[in-house]
Amino acid sequence: MGLKEKSSDLRQRMRNALKGGGEKAIQKQKATGKLTARERILALLDPGSFHEYDLFVEHAAKDFDMDKKYLPGDGVITGTGTIYEHPVCIYAQDFTVAGGSLGWMHAKKITKIMDHALKLKVPLIGINDSGGARIQEGVNSLAGYGEIFFRNTLASGVIPQISVILGPCAGGAVYSPALTDFVFVVDKISKMFITGPEVIKTVIGEEISMEELGGARVHCETTGNAHFFAESEQQCFDQIKELITYIPWNNTRKAQPFPAKEPKSKTFKLEDIVPDSPKEPYDVRDVIRALVDDSEFLEVQELFAQNIVVGFSRLNGQTVGIVANQPMVLAGVLDVDSSDKAARFIRFCDAFNVPLVTLVDLPGYLPGVDQEYAGVIRHGAKVLYAYSEATVPKITIILRKAYGGGYIAMCSHHLRADFVFAWPLAEIAVMGPEGAANIVFRKEIAAAENPDEVRRQKVEEYKAKFANPYVAAAYGYIDAVIEPEETRNMLLHALQISEEKTVRMPEKKHGVPPF
Ligand code: HXC
Repeated sequence: MGLKEKSSDLRQRMRNALKGGGEKAIQKQKATGKLTARERILALLDPGSFHEYDLFVEHAAKDFDMDKKYLPGDGVITGTGTIYEHPVCIYAQDFTVAGGSLGWMHAKKITKIMDHALKLKVPLIGINDSGGARIQEGVNSLAGYGEIFFRNTLASGVIPQISVILGPCAGGAVYSPALTDFVFVVDKISKMFITGPEVIKTVIGEEISMEELGGARVHCETTGNAHFFAESEQQCFDQIKELITYIPWNNTRKAQPFPAKEPKSKTFKLEDIVPDSPKEPYDVRDVIRALVDDSEFLEVQELFAQNIVVGFSRLNGQTVGIVANQPMVLAGVLDVDSSDKAARFIRFCDAFNVPLVTLVDLPGYLPGVDQEYAGVIRHGAKVLYAYSEATVPKITIILRKAYGGGYIAMCSHHLRADFVFAWPLAEIAVMGPEGAANIVFRKEIAAAENPDEVRRQKVEEYKAKFANPYVAAAYGYIDAVIEPEETRNMLLHALQISEEKTVRMPEKKHGVPPF
Protein backbone atom coordinates (compact mmCIF):
# COMPACT_ATOMS: atom_id res chain seq x y z
CA MET A 1 0.00 0.00 0.00
CA GLY A 2 1.26 3.47 -0.87
CA LEU A 3 0.58 6.66 1.07
CA LYS A 4 -2.72 7.22 -0.73
CA GLU A 5 -4.07 3.80 0.23
CA LYS A 6 -2.64 4.04 3.73
CA SER A 7 -4.31 7.44 4.19
CA SER A 8 -7.59 6.03 3.01
CA ASP A 9 -7.15 3.11 5.44
CA LEU A 10 -6.50 5.62 8.24
CA ARG A 11 -9.68 7.52 7.38
CA GLN A 12 -11.69 4.29 7.40
CA ARG A 13 -10.26 3.33 10.82
CA MET A 14 -11.10 6.79 12.11
CA ARG A 15 -14.66 6.59 10.78
CA ASN A 16 -15.12 3.27 12.60
CA ALA A 17 -13.74 4.62 15.87
CA LEU A 18 -15.74 7.84 15.64
CA LYS A 19 -19.00 5.89 15.42
CA GLY A 20 -18.76 5.31 19.19
CA GLY A 21 -21.34 2.80 20.41
CA GLY A 22 -23.29 2.99 17.14
CA GLU A 23 -26.46 4.68 15.94
CA LYS A 24 -28.84 2.82 18.30
CA ALA A 25 -26.85 3.65 21.45
CA ILE A 26 -26.46 7.26 20.29
CA GLN A 27 -30.23 7.58 19.75
CA LYS A 28 -30.79 6.16 23.27
CA GLN A 29 -28.36 8.74 24.68
CA LYS A 30 -30.15 11.57 22.86
CA ALA A 31 -33.57 10.35 23.98
CA THR A 32 -32.52 10.98 27.58
CA GLY A 33 -31.68 14.61 26.69
CA LYS A 34 -27.91 14.03 26.72
CA LEU A 35 -25.30 15.06 24.15
CA THR A 36 -22.72 12.49 23.07
CA ALA A 37 -19.22 12.64 24.59
CA ARG A 38 -17.68 14.15 21.45
CA GLU A 39 -20.49 16.72 21.07
CA ARG A 40 -19.88 17.76 24.67
CA ILE A 41 -16.18 18.37 24.12
CA LEU A 42 -16.86 20.35 20.95
CA ALA A 43 -19.54 22.44 22.69
CA LEU A 44 -17.17 23.29 25.54
CA LEU A 45 -13.90 24.04 23.74
CA ASP A 46 -13.04 26.88 21.34
CA PRO A 47 -14.17 25.97 17.80
CA GLY A 48 -11.50 23.97 15.98
CA SER A 49 -9.23 23.73 19.04
CA PHE A 50 -9.84 20.10 20.06
CA HIS A 51 -7.05 17.61 19.33
CA GLU A 52 -7.88 14.00 20.15
CA TYR A 53 -5.31 11.36 21.17
CA ASP A 54 -5.47 7.61 21.66
CA LEU A 55 -8.45 7.20 19.35
CA PHE A 56 -7.26 3.70 18.46
CA VAL A 57 -6.78 2.43 22.00
CA GLU A 58 -8.64 -0.86 22.53
CA HIS A 59 -9.25 -3.01 25.57
CA ALA A 60 -7.38 -6.28 25.96
CA ALA A 61 -9.90 -8.04 28.21
CA LYS A 62 -10.82 -11.64 27.44
CA ASP A 63 -13.27 -12.87 30.08
CA PHE A 64 -17.05 -12.93 29.55
CA ASP A 65 -16.63 -12.86 25.75
CA MET A 66 -14.93 -9.47 25.94
CA ASP A 67 -12.39 -10.67 23.34
CA LYS A 68 -15.22 -10.65 20.80
CA LYS A 69 -16.21 -7.04 21.57
CA TYR A 70 -14.82 -3.94 19.83
CA LEU A 71 -15.22 -0.90 22.10
CA PRO A 72 -14.19 2.21 20.12
CA GLY A 73 -11.65 4.27 22.06
CA ASP A 74 -12.48 1.96 24.97
CA GLY A 75 -15.37 4.26 25.91
CA VAL A 76 -13.52 7.47 26.64
CA ILE A 77 -12.35 10.40 24.52
CA THR A 78 -9.22 12.28 25.57
CA GLY A 79 -7.36 15.28 24.20
CA THR A 80 -6.31 18.90 24.53
CA GLY A 81 -7.89 22.16 23.45
CA THR A 82 -8.57 25.71 24.53
CA ILE A 83 -11.35 27.67 26.23
CA TYR A 84 -11.21 31.38 25.36
CA GLU A 85 -7.61 30.54 24.38
CA HIS A 86 -6.78 29.09 27.81
CA PRO A 87 -5.21 25.64 27.31
CA VAL A 88 -6.92 22.62 28.90
CA CYS A 89 -6.59 18.85 28.97
CA ILE A 90 -9.91 17.06 28.77
CA TYR A 91 -11.54 13.65 28.84
CA ALA A 92 -15.17 12.62 28.31
CA GLN A 93 -16.57 9.18 29.02
CA ASP A 94 -18.69 7.84 26.17
CA PHE A 95 -21.81 6.20 27.62
CA THR A 96 -22.72 4.78 24.19
CA VAL A 97 -19.71 2.43 24.47
CA ALA A 98 -20.35 -0.20 27.18
CA GLY A 99 -22.09 2.43 29.29
CA GLY A 100 -18.87 4.45 29.59
CA SER A 101 -17.75 1.77 32.05
CA LEU A 102 -14.17 2.01 33.26
CA GLY A 103 -11.87 -0.82 32.23
CA TRP A 104 -8.07 -0.91 32.43
CA MET A 105 -7.30 0.75 29.05
CA HIS A 106 -10.11 3.28 29.58
CA ALA A 107 -8.42 4.22 32.86
CA LYS A 108 -4.98 4.28 31.16
CA LYS A 109 -6.29 6.85 28.67
CA ILE A 110 -7.58 9.02 31.51
CA THR A 111 -4.41 8.76 33.58
CA LYS A 112 -2.30 9.56 30.51
CA ILE A 113 -4.15 12.81 29.89
CA MET A 114 -3.98 13.58 33.64
CA ASP A 115 -0.19 13.10 33.52
CA HIS A 116 -0.08 15.45 30.53
CA ALA A 117 -2.09 18.09 32.37
CA LEU A 118 0.21 17.89 35.39
CA LYS A 119 3.37 18.01 33.27
CA LEU A 120 2.13 20.78 30.97
CA LYS A 121 0.62 22.60 33.98
CA VAL A 122 -2.80 23.26 32.48
CA PRO A 123 -6.29 22.74 33.96
CA LEU A 124 -7.88 19.29 33.68
CA ILE A 125 -11.56 18.82 32.83
CA GLY A 126 -13.20 15.40 33.26
CA ILE A 127 -16.69 14.74 31.88
CA ASN A 128 -18.16 11.76 33.74
CA ASP A 129 -20.96 9.63 32.25
CA SER A 130 -20.40 6.04 33.25
CA GLY A 131 -21.83 2.88 34.79
CA GLY A 132 -18.69 2.74 36.97
CA ALA A 133 -16.14 -0.07 37.21
CA ARG A 134 -16.39 -2.36 34.13
CA ILE A 135 -17.73 -5.48 35.72
CA GLN A 136 -16.11 -7.88 33.21
CA GLU A 137 -12.61 -6.52 33.95
CA GLY A 138 -12.81 -7.15 37.68
CA VAL A 139 -9.92 -5.93 39.78
CA ASN A 140 -8.28 -4.19 36.81
CA SER A 141 -11.17 -1.71 36.81
CA LEU A 142 -10.62 -1.06 40.50
CA ALA A 143 -6.89 -0.62 39.86
CA GLY A 144 -7.77 1.92 37.16
CA TYR A 145 -9.83 3.97 39.61
CA GLY A 146 -7.04 3.85 42.17
CA GLU A 147 -4.57 5.22 39.60
CA ILE A 148 -6.97 8.09 38.86
CA PHE A 149 -7.52 8.96 42.54
CA PHE A 150 -3.77 9.00 43.14
CA ARG A 151 -3.24 11.45 40.29
CA ASN A 152 -6.16 13.64 41.42
CA THR A 153 -4.41 13.97 44.76
CA LEU A 154 -1.01 14.62 43.19
CA ALA A 155 -2.46 17.35 40.97
CA SER A 156 -4.43 18.98 43.80
CA GLY A 157 -3.17 22.52 44.35
CA VAL A 158 -0.92 22.33 41.26
CA ILE A 159 -3.46 22.57 38.43
CA PRO A 160 -7.18 23.38 38.69
CA GLN A 161 -9.27 20.20 38.31
CA ILE A 162 -12.87 20.40 37.12
CA SER A 163 -15.37 17.52 37.14
CA VAL A 164 -18.55 17.56 35.09
CA ILE A 165 -21.21 14.98 35.95
CA LEU A 166 -23.34 14.35 32.87
CA GLY A 167 -24.95 11.00 33.57
CA PRO A 168 -24.66 8.31 36.18
CA CYS A 169 -21.62 8.40 38.41
CA ALA A 170 -21.84 5.45 40.74
CA GLY A 171 -19.72 3.62 43.28
CA GLY A 172 -16.05 4.52 43.44
CA ALA A 173 -16.51 6.72 40.36
CA VAL A 174 -17.76 9.54 42.58
CA TYR A 175 -14.43 9.77 44.37
CA SER A 176 -12.48 11.25 41.49
CA PRO A 177 -14.90 14.20 41.29
CA ALA A 178 -14.81 14.47 45.09
CA LEU A 179 -11.02 14.91 44.93
CA THR A 180 -11.24 17.71 42.34
CA ASP A 181 -11.76 21.44 42.87
CA PHE A 182 -15.12 22.11 41.20
CA VAL A 183 -18.00 19.75 40.41
CA PHE A 184 -20.59 20.81 37.82
CA VAL A 185 -24.02 19.11 37.61
CA VAL A 186 -27.07 19.41 35.35
CA ASP A 187 -30.67 19.07 36.50
CA LYS A 188 -32.25 15.66 35.73
CA ILE A 189 -29.07 14.42 33.99
CA SER A 190 -26.45 14.14 36.76
CA LYS A 191 -26.64 11.33 39.33
CA MET A 192 -24.00 10.66 41.98
CA PHE A 193 -24.07 8.05 44.71
CA ILE A 194 -21.89 5.45 46.39
CA THR A 195 -24.62 2.81 46.27
CA GLY A 196 -27.73 3.08 44.11
CA PRO A 197 -31.41 2.75 45.10
CA GLU A 198 -31.50 -1.01 44.36
CA VAL A 199 -28.66 -1.80 46.77
CA ILE A 200 -30.06 0.53 49.42
CA LYS A 201 -33.45 -1.22 49.17
CA THR A 202 -31.86 -4.65 49.45
CA VAL A 203 -29.49 -3.84 52.30
CA ILE A 204 -31.47 -1.49 54.54
CA GLY A 205 -34.96 -1.59 53.07
CA GLU A 206 -35.18 2.14 52.27
CA GLU A 207 -36.91 3.11 49.02
CA ILE A 208 -35.79 6.20 47.15
CA SER A 209 -35.57 7.32 43.52
CA MET A 210 -32.22 7.94 41.81
CA GLU A 211 -33.07 11.63 41.52
CA GLU A 212 -33.91 12.01 45.22
CA LEU A 213 -30.85 10.04 46.25
CA GLY A 214 -28.19 11.68 44.12
CA GLY A 215 -29.69 14.14 41.65
CA ALA A 216 -28.19 17.53 40.80
CA ARG A 217 -30.32 19.48 43.29
CA VAL A 218 -29.50 17.11 46.15
CA HIS A 219 -25.77 17.60 45.62
CA CYS A 220 -26.03 21.37 45.22
CA GLU A 221 -28.47 22.08 48.07
CA THR A 222 -28.03 19.31 50.63
CA THR A 223 -24.71 17.45 50.44
CA GLY A 224 -22.54 20.27 49.08
CA ASN A 225 -20.74 17.74 46.85
CA ALA A 226 -21.40 19.87 43.75
CA HIS A 227 -20.47 23.50 43.16
CA PHE A 228 -22.41 24.62 40.08
CA PHE A 229 -26.02 23.78 39.13
CA ALA A 230 -27.24 24.13 35.54
CA GLU A 231 -30.60 23.59 33.86
CA SER A 232 -29.03 22.23 30.66
CA GLU A 233 -25.73 20.90 29.34
CA GLN A 234 -25.19 24.11 27.34
CA GLN A 235 -25.68 26.27 30.45
CA CYS A 236 -23.23 24.01 32.28
CA PHE A 237 -20.58 24.53 29.57
CA ASP A 238 -21.12 28.31 29.73
CA GLN A 239 -20.51 28.16 33.50
CA ILE A 240 -17.27 26.19 33.03
CA LYS A 241 -16.05 28.67 30.41
CA GLU A 242 -16.76 31.57 32.78
CA LEU A 243 -14.91 29.86 35.64
CA ILE A 244 -11.87 29.24 33.43
CA THR A 245 -11.55 33.00 32.85
CA TYR A 246 -11.25 33.60 36.61
CA ILE A 247 -8.64 31.01 37.55
CA PRO A 248 -4.96 30.61 36.62
CA TRP A 249 -3.61 27.73 34.53
CA ASN A 250 -1.53 26.46 37.44
CA ASN A 251 -0.17 27.33 40.88
CA THR A 252 2.86 29.24 39.55
CA ARG A 253 0.73 31.81 37.75
CA LYS A 254 -1.92 34.39 38.47
CA ALA A 255 -5.26 34.45 36.66
CA GLN A 256 -5.13 36.35 33.35
CA PRO A 257 -5.99 40.01 33.98
CA PHE A 258 -9.03 41.63 32.37
CA PRO A 259 -9.50 45.30 31.46
CA ALA A 260 -10.57 47.14 34.64
CA LYS A 261 -14.18 48.29 34.81
CA GLU A 262 -16.15 50.38 37.31
CA PRO A 263 -19.11 48.71 39.10
CA LYS A 264 -22.60 49.42 37.79
CA SER A 265 -23.07 51.90 40.63
CA LYS A 266 -26.49 53.06 39.48
CA THR A 267 -27.92 49.61 40.15
CA PHE A 268 -25.99 48.81 43.34
CA LYS A 269 -25.60 51.73 45.78
CA LEU A 270 -23.86 50.85 49.03
CA GLU A 271 -25.72 53.42 51.13
CA ASP A 272 -29.08 51.90 50.09
CA ILE A 273 -28.06 48.27 50.72
CA VAL A 274 -26.96 47.81 54.34
CA PRO A 275 -29.62 48.76 56.94
CA ASP A 276 -28.48 50.63 60.07
CA SER A 277 -30.09 48.16 62.47
CA PRO A 278 -27.78 45.17 63.06
CA LYS A 279 -30.84 42.93 63.10
CA GLU A 280 -32.19 43.83 59.67
CA PRO A 281 -31.27 41.46 56.85
CA TYR A 282 -29.93 42.39 53.39
CA ASP A 283 -28.39 40.55 50.48
CA VAL A 284 -24.59 40.75 50.79
CA ARG A 285 -24.31 39.93 47.08
CA ASP A 286 -25.56 43.47 46.40
CA VAL A 287 -22.61 44.80 48.44
CA ILE A 288 -20.25 42.62 46.39
CA ARG A 289 -21.74 43.88 43.12
CA ALA A 290 -21.44 47.47 44.33
CA LEU A 291 -17.70 46.97 44.86
CA VAL A 292 -16.37 44.81 42.03
CA ASP A 293 -15.51 45.41 38.38
CA ASP A 294 -18.59 45.59 36.17
CA SER A 295 -20.61 44.29 39.17
CA GLU A 296 -19.79 40.74 38.01
CA PHE A 297 -19.67 37.92 40.54
CA LEU A 298 -19.36 34.20 39.80
CA GLU A 299 -20.85 32.54 42.87
CA VAL A 300 -19.54 29.10 43.89
CA GLN A 301 -21.89 26.69 45.73
CA GLU A 302 -24.72 29.22 45.42
CA LEU A 303 -27.36 26.78 46.66
CA PHE A 304 -25.44 25.22 49.58
CA ALA A 305 -24.97 26.71 53.07
CA GLN A 306 -26.38 30.00 51.85
CA ASN A 307 -25.47 31.76 55.12
CA ILE A 308 -22.07 32.29 53.57
CA VAL A 309 -21.39 33.54 50.04
CA VAL A 310 -18.18 32.64 48.20
CA GLY A 311 -17.10 33.26 44.63
CA PHE A 312 -14.90 35.07 42.14
CA SER A 313 -14.93 38.69 40.97
CA ARG A 314 -12.36 41.14 39.65
CA LEU A 315 -10.92 44.32 41.14
CA ASN A 316 -9.02 46.54 38.72
CA GLY A 317 -9.08 43.59 36.30
CA GLN A 318 -7.45 41.15 38.74
CA THR A 319 -9.28 38.04 40.00
CA VAL A 320 -10.18 38.04 43.69
CA GLY A 321 -11.91 35.41 45.81
CA ILE A 322 -14.73 36.83 47.92
CA VAL A 323 -15.93 35.32 51.19
CA ALA A 324 -18.93 37.11 52.72
CA ASN A 325 -21.37 36.39 55.53
CA GLN A 326 -24.95 36.48 54.21
CA PRO A 327 -27.20 38.33 56.76
CA MET A 328 -30.25 37.27 54.70
CA VAL A 329 -29.84 33.59 55.70
CA LEU A 330 -29.58 32.57 59.38
CA ALA A 331 -28.20 36.09 60.05
CA GLY A 332 -24.98 34.99 58.33
CA VAL A 333 -23.81 32.68 61.16
CA LEU A 334 -20.94 30.27 60.74
CA ASP A 335 -22.09 26.66 61.13
CA VAL A 336 -20.85 23.22 60.08
CA ASP A 337 -21.73 23.55 56.38
CA SER A 338 -20.82 27.21 55.90
CA SER A 339 -17.46 26.58 57.60
CA ASP A 340 -16.71 23.69 55.23
CA LYS A 341 -17.77 25.76 52.23
CA ALA A 342 -15.68 28.79 53.20
CA ALA A 343 -12.58 26.80 54.23
CA ARG A 344 -12.44 24.85 50.98
CA PHE A 345 -12.83 27.99 48.88
CA ILE A 346 -10.14 29.83 50.86
CA ARG A 347 -7.72 26.93 50.30
CA PHE A 348 -8.41 26.92 46.55
CA CYS A 349 -7.74 30.67 46.33
CA ASP A 350 -4.56 30.37 48.39
CA ALA A 351 -3.26 27.44 46.32
CA PHE A 352 -3.83 29.35 43.07
CA ASN A 353 -2.62 32.86 43.97
CA VAL A 354 -6.05 34.45 44.17
CA PRO A 355 -6.18 37.31 46.75
CA LEU A 356 -8.96 37.02 49.35
CA VAL A 357 -11.49 39.73 50.13
CA THR A 358 -13.61 39.01 53.22
CA LEU A 359 -16.83 40.89 54.01
CA VAL A 360 -17.86 40.49 57.64
CA ASP A 361 -21.33 40.76 59.16
CA LEU A 362 -22.18 37.89 61.53
CA PRO A 363 -23.35 37.19 65.06
CA GLY A 364 -20.78 34.36 65.49
CA TYR A 365 -20.91 30.56 65.33
CA LEU A 366 -24.40 28.98 65.44
CA PRO A 367 -25.25 27.69 68.94
CA GLY A 368 -27.29 24.49 69.44
CA VAL A 369 -27.17 20.79 70.26
CA ASP A 370 -27.47 19.77 66.57
CA GLN A 371 -24.46 21.85 65.64
CA GLU A 372 -22.38 20.67 68.59
CA TYR A 373 -23.20 17.02 67.82
CA ALA A 374 -22.46 17.57 64.13
CA GLY A 375 -18.96 18.69 65.11
CA VAL A 376 -19.13 22.48 64.77
CA ILE A 377 -15.88 22.66 66.76
CA ARG A 378 -13.98 20.60 64.18
CA HIS A 379 -15.71 22.11 61.14
CA GLY A 380 -15.53 25.66 62.46
CA ALA A 381 -11.81 25.22 63.08
CA LYS A 382 -11.34 24.66 59.33
CA VAL A 383 -12.04 28.35 58.72
CA LEU A 384 -9.44 29.37 61.31
CA TYR A 385 -6.94 26.98 59.76
CA ALA A 386 -7.60 27.97 56.16
CA TYR A 387 -7.33 31.71 56.79
CA SER A 388 -4.28 31.37 59.06
CA GLU A 389 -2.48 29.24 56.50
CA ALA A 390 -3.35 31.42 53.49
CA THR A 391 -0.43 33.56 52.34
CA VAL A 392 -2.14 35.37 49.45
CA PRO A 393 -3.09 39.01 50.07
CA LYS A 394 -5.95 39.05 52.60
CA ILE A 395 -8.17 42.11 52.92
CA THR A 396 -11.10 42.26 55.35
CA ILE A 397 -13.97 44.74 55.54
CA ILE A 398 -16.18 44.67 58.64
CA LEU A 399 -19.52 45.97 57.41
CA ARG A 400 -21.68 45.69 60.53
CA LYS A 401 -21.53 42.96 63.22
CA ALA A 402 -18.38 41.01 64.11
CA TYR A 403 -19.11 39.18 67.33
CA GLY A 404 -17.15 36.55 69.23
CA GLY A 405 -15.45 33.72 67.38
CA GLY A 406 -16.95 35.09 64.18
CA TYR A 407 -14.82 38.25 64.51
CA ILE A 408 -11.64 36.20 64.83
CA ALA A 409 -12.55 33.60 62.20
CA MET A 410 -13.52 36.00 59.41
CA CYS A 411 -9.94 36.89 58.58
CA SER A 412 -9.10 39.21 61.46
CA HIS A 413 -5.61 40.65 61.91
CA HIS A 414 -4.99 37.87 64.41
CA LEU A 415 -5.17 35.34 61.53
CA ARG A 416 -2.82 37.61 59.58
CA ALA A 417 -5.11 39.67 57.42
CA ASP A 418 -2.97 42.28 55.67
CA PHE A 419 -5.61 44.99 55.97
CA VAL A 420 -8.75 45.20 58.10
CA PHE A 421 -11.12 48.09 57.47
CA ALA A 422 -14.42 48.75 59.27
CA TRP A 423 -17.43 50.82 58.35
CA PRO A 424 -18.67 53.28 61.04
CA LEU A 425 -21.67 50.93 61.61
CA ALA A 426 -19.35 48.11 62.69
CA GLU A 427 -19.87 46.53 66.12
CA ILE A 428 -16.94 44.45 67.35
CA ALA A 429 -17.52 42.67 70.62
CA VAL A 430 -17.46 39.33 72.41
CA MET A 431 -21.22 38.98 71.86
CA GLY A 432 -24.33 41.02 70.99
CA PRO A 433 -25.43 43.75 73.47
CA GLU A 434 -28.55 41.87 74.70
CA GLY A 435 -26.67 38.66 75.49
CA ALA A 436 -23.77 40.53 77.06
CA ALA A 437 -25.99 42.72 79.28
CA ASN A 438 -27.94 39.67 80.51
CA ILE A 439 -24.74 37.96 81.61
CA VAL A 440 -22.61 40.83 82.92
CA PHE A 441 -25.43 42.68 84.70
CA ARG A 442 -27.56 39.63 85.65
CA LYS A 443 -27.53 40.37 89.38
CA GLU A 444 -28.32 44.08 88.96
CA ILE A 445 -31.17 43.31 86.55
CA ALA A 446 -32.62 40.62 88.82
CA ALA A 447 -32.48 42.87 91.90
CA ALA A 448 -34.03 45.88 90.15
CA GLU A 449 -37.59 47.05 90.80
CA ASN A 450 -38.08 47.39 87.07
CA PRO A 451 -35.83 44.70 85.51
CA ASP A 452 -36.88 45.48 81.91
CA GLU A 453 -35.98 49.13 82.26
CA VAL A 454 -32.61 48.31 83.88
CA ARG A 455 -31.89 45.72 81.18
CA ARG A 456 -32.66 48.31 78.48
CA GLN A 457 -30.34 50.82 80.17
CA LYS A 458 -27.54 48.26 80.49
CA VAL A 459 -27.91 47.24 76.84
CA GLU A 460 -27.61 50.90 75.83
CA GLU A 461 -24.60 51.35 78.14
CA TYR A 462 -22.92 48.28 76.62
CA LYS A 463 -23.68 49.45 73.08
CA ALA A 464 -22.22 52.90 73.75
CA LYS A 465 -19.05 51.35 75.14
CA PHE A 466 -18.39 48.36 72.89
CA ALA A 467 -20.79 48.29 69.91
CA ASN A 468 -18.62 50.38 67.64
CA PRO A 469 -15.38 49.99 65.70
CA TYR A 470 -13.34 52.38 67.85
CA VAL A 471 -12.36 50.07 70.71
CA ALA A 472 -10.83 47.64 68.20
CA ALA A 473 -9.32 50.59 66.30
CA ALA A 474 -7.74 51.87 69.52
CA TYR A 475 -5.81 48.59 69.79
CA GLY A 476 -4.81 48.69 66.12
CA TYR A 477 -6.94 45.61 65.31
CA ILE A 478 -8.55 47.72 62.58
CA ASP A 479 -6.35 49.68 60.22
CA ALA A 480 -8.92 52.30 59.27
CA VAL A 481 -12.55 53.15 59.87
CA ILE A 482 -13.85 54.06 56.43
CA GLU A 483 -17.05 55.39 54.89
CA PRO A 484 -18.80 52.81 52.69
CA GLU A 485 -18.17 54.88 49.56
CA GLU A 486 -14.41 54.64 50.13
CA THR A 487 -14.46 50.82 50.21
CA ARG A 488 -13.67 50.10 46.56
CA ASN A 489 -10.76 52.55 46.50
CA MET A 490 -9.37 51.07 49.71
CA LEU A 491 -9.62 47.58 48.21
CA LEU A 492 -7.94 48.60 44.96
CA HIS A 493 -5.11 50.29 46.83
CA ALA A 494 -4.66 47.41 49.30
CA LEU A 495 -4.43 44.95 46.40
CA GLN A 496 -1.98 47.14 44.50
CA ILE A 497 0.25 47.53 47.55
CA SER A 498 0.14 43.76 48.28
CA GLU A 499 1.23 42.75 44.77
CA GLU A 500 4.66 41.48 45.91
CA LYS A 501 3.54 39.99 49.24
CA THR A 502 5.75 37.13 50.37
CA VAL A 503 5.36 35.14 53.57
CA ARG A 504 7.62 32.39 54.89
CA MET A 505 5.80 29.73 56.88
CA PRO A 506 7.68 27.39 59.25
CA GLU A 507 9.21 24.40 57.46
CA LYS A 508 7.10 21.28 57.62
CA LYS A 509 6.05 18.34 55.45
CA HIS A 510 2.44 19.47 55.71
CA GLY A 511 0.04 20.58 58.41
CA VAL A 512 -2.71 18.46 59.91
CA PRO A 513 -5.86 20.48 59.24
CA PRO A 514 -9.12 19.56 61.03
CA PHE A 515 -10.40 17.56 58.00
C1 HXC B 1 -19.96 -3.13 32.29
C2 HXC B 1 -21.81 -1.80 31.94
C3 HXC B 1 -21.70 -1.27 33.23
C4 HXC B 1 -20.62 -1.74 34.04
C5 HXC B 1 -23.38 -0.36 32.30
N1 HXC B 1 -22.88 -1.21 31.41
N2 HXC B 1 -22.68 -0.38 33.42
N3 HXC B 1 -20.95 -2.73 31.48
N4 HXC B 1 -19.78 -2.65 33.52
N5 HXC B 1 -20.41 -1.25 35.26
C6 HXC B 1 -23.37 -1.49 30.07
C7 HXC B 1 -24.68 -2.23 30.06
O1 HXC B 1 -24.46 -3.62 30.17
C8 HXC B 1 -25.22 -1.84 28.70
O2 HXC B 1 -24.56 -2.62 27.72
C9 HXC B 1 -24.76 -0.43 28.53
O3 HXC B 1 -23.68 -0.27 29.43
C10 HXC B 1 -25.82 0.59 28.90
O4 HXC B 1 -26.33 0.28 30.18
P1 HXC B 1 -27.89 0.21 30.49
O5 HXC B 1 -28.03 -0.49 31.79
O6 HXC B 1 -28.63 -0.31 29.31
O7 HXC B 1 -28.22 1.75 30.63
P2 HXC B 1 -29.27 2.44 31.61
O8 HXC B 1 -30.57 1.72 31.60
O9 HXC B 1 -29.26 3.88 31.20
O10 HXC B 1 -28.66 2.30 33.08
C11 HXC B 1 -27.43 2.94 33.41
C12 HXC B 1 -26.92 2.46 34.77
C13 HXC B 1 -26.87 0.91 34.79
C14 HXC B 1 -27.84 2.99 35.87
C15 HXC B 1 -25.55 3.07 34.98
O11 HXC B 1 -26.17 0.47 33.62
C16 HXC B 1 -26.17 0.39 36.00
O12 HXC B 1 -26.76 0.31 37.08
N6 HXC B 1 -24.94 -0.03 35.81
C17 HXC B 1 -24.14 -0.62 36.89
C18 HXC B 1 -23.74 0.44 37.89
C19 HXC B 1 -22.82 -0.12 38.92
O13 HXC B 1 -23.27 -0.73 39.92
N7 HXC B 1 -21.50 0.01 38.66
C20 HXC B 1 -20.49 -0.55 39.47
C21 HXC B 1 -20.27 0.42 40.61
S1 HXC B 1 -19.09 -0.19 41.72
P3 HXC B 1 -25.27 -3.13 26.39
O14 HXC B 1 -24.22 -3.97 25.74
O15 HXC B 1 -26.48 -3.88 26.83
O16 HXC B 1 -25.60 -1.90 25.63
C22 HXC B 1 -17.75 0.62 41.27
C23 HXC B 1 -16.58 0.24 42.11
C24 HXC B 1 -15.45 1.15 41.86
O17 HXC B 1 -17.72 1.41 40.42
C25 HXC B 1 -14.65 1.26 43.11
C26 HXC B 1 -13.48 2.14 42.91
C27 HXC B 1 -12.84 2.43 44.23
